[in-house]
Amino acid sequence: MTSPTSLTNTSPGLRRGWLPIGRPEEFALDTPSRVELLGEGIVVVRRESGLTAFADRCAHRNARLSDGRMVDGCIECPYHGWRFDAAGQCAHIPALGVDATVPPTAHLSPYRLQERYGLVWAALDDPVCDLPEIAEWGDSSLRQIWLPPVDIRAAAGQFVDNFLDFGHFPFVHAGTFGAGEDELIGDYEVQRRDDGWGFVVEYPHTIHNNEDPLVKTGEHPLVQPRNMTYTFGAPFTIVLRLELPITGVLNVLFTALQPLDDTTTRVYTAMLRNDCDTAEKAQHAIDYELEIMAEDLKVIERLWDKTIPFGLGQAHTRADRNTVEFRRIMQRLLSA
Ligand code: FES
Ligand SMILES: [Fe+2]
Repeated sequence: MTSPTSLTNTSPGLRRGWLPIGRPEEFALDTPSRVELLGEGIVVVRRESGLTAFADRCAHRNARLSDGRMVDGCIECPYHGWRFDAAGQCAHIPALGVDATVPPTAHLSPYRLQERYGLVWAALDDPVCDLPEIAEWGDSSLRQIWLPPVDIRAAAGQFVDNFLDFGHFPFVHAGTFGAGEDELIGDYEVQRRDDGWGFVVEYPHTIHNNEDPLVKTGEHPLVQPRNMTYTFGAPFTIVLRLELPITGVLNVLFTALQPLDDTTTRVYTAMLRNDCDTAEKAQHAIDYELEIMAEDLKVIERLWDKTIPFGLGQAHTRADRNTVEFRRIMQRLLSA
């Protein structure tokens, strides 16, 4: 295979990674529903025995199975009534009668699914990389707060590229946490995950802590140190651990991206925080995070195109070490 020159939302190599397709509660019992992933439609059904997913394309004449209904534990195609069981086997072809031999081409191939970290994940081909381990996930001292999913007009790779980047804070986030004092990017290391499909970056810096109520009273300074630990896992999962020593706040952001089609992406974000013991504080944290995301989207939804080029076309500096590593890993996934 020739090495791909760029990453897009429909790069075929993305089929080899685990990608989110929704929150578990989106899939009601015995109700076929359609989700979009990598420019394709997928039909998902939750049965008592668990979730199943297939291409949303009947083996007969390609009708959308998600427009069908459930009959005797099978999805019934809305076009000619073929029925498919939980394993994708065609169990009934009405036009042939009950005892007919079903042709081998009449079956569907199930996609791999797993439920983890509050999301349903699909891999459309044999996955080459696992989901990252998130040490803080089960920590009962942290409140799990989900943002509503956000659909953006940018590629998943562009969102990750922006999320991993810390050179943009003083410019893009001047209205929230970005500190003008923080322009210079110091040296930092990128530690690759053992299997090569992810990395960890630790970076201490300073922010304007507009979330700290003691800043307004003058008890705390506005400019505060913050320690960031990014954990990236291919294709599009990031955990960002934020520690604020002055306030003692710990905020672990978990982000996973669903490439819908060539130009749009769904962003799932959960926050694990130790400072949100009331619904009001949680809502405040959600609003602030959405405000920060809106600042990023103003830039990334207006980028030159919806790709991450691997070769020429972008200049890199030592401050971009982590986003260069992201490109290397994605290039490897797309060439695997
Ligand atoms: S297209 Fe589905 S049964 Fe004919
Ligand atoms: Fe940002």
